[in-house]
Amino acid sequence: MKILLVDGTVLGSKTGAILVEIKKYIEKIDENFDMEILTFANYEHQIVDGRPFDQYNTGMQEMVTKLEQADGYIFATPIFQGSIPGVLKNAFDFLNPKALRYKPVSIVANGGTHQHHLVVENQFKPILDYFRALVTPNYVYTHADHFDENNMIIDPNVHERLQELARVFVKYCELSATLSKTPIDQHE
Ligand SMILES: Cc1cc2nc3c(=O)[nH]c(=O)nc-3n(C[C@H](O)[C@H](O)[C@H](O)COP(=O)(O)O)c2cc1C
Repeated sequence: MKILLVDGTVLGSKTGAILVEIKKYIEKIDENFDMEILTFANYEHQIVDGRPFDQYNTGMQEMVTKLEQADGYIFATPIFQGSIPGVLKNAFDFLNPKALRYKPVSIVANGGTHQHHLVVENQFKPILDYFRALVTPNYVYTHADHFDENNMIIDPNVHERLQELARVFVKYCELSATLSKTPIDQHE
């Protein structure tokens, strides 16, 4: 399975640091996943404005194609203005509404305050629910206090939660692999 670990911001580095850790925990459980970190900061983002797809820059076309073709996702988001970054929502606006259907998804997030963890529940999960993704019930929310000055995660509890998230995510991958993405009325 192709698993995309999406660092959904062009600003900041803690979300990327979380992805590096969870990637290791997933690899420990199952080394057969084909995993790739997709870093939004490496792309020159363009706003979805209705032009034909082939008229966006090649980076955007590559990013959207990777997003649509992956079999599962870990999305990492910072909290910006009580929500997800605009660049991440813009990426979702590019996607075919069926692109994430019944695919496994886990979320990791980082905020400047402890209080904004429910942004994941109230703002991010509804978008993924729209896509009918298989979103794991657990997610991991971090804060600056959980990192050292080199952005290494130093909080043992965060590591435990990342391991637990990896464990559940791998099970959701197994479920997704056995679940047809075709609606029942379109089966032969
Ligand atoms: C434009 C902007 C808006 C932000 N809004 C919030 C917010 O509403 N709630 C919050 O907890 N943190 C907020 N933050 C803090 C970011 O979530 C935090 O800086 C980021 O996750 C950490 O990134 P770093 O890797 O640069 O440390 C905001 C940061 C920026 C730049």
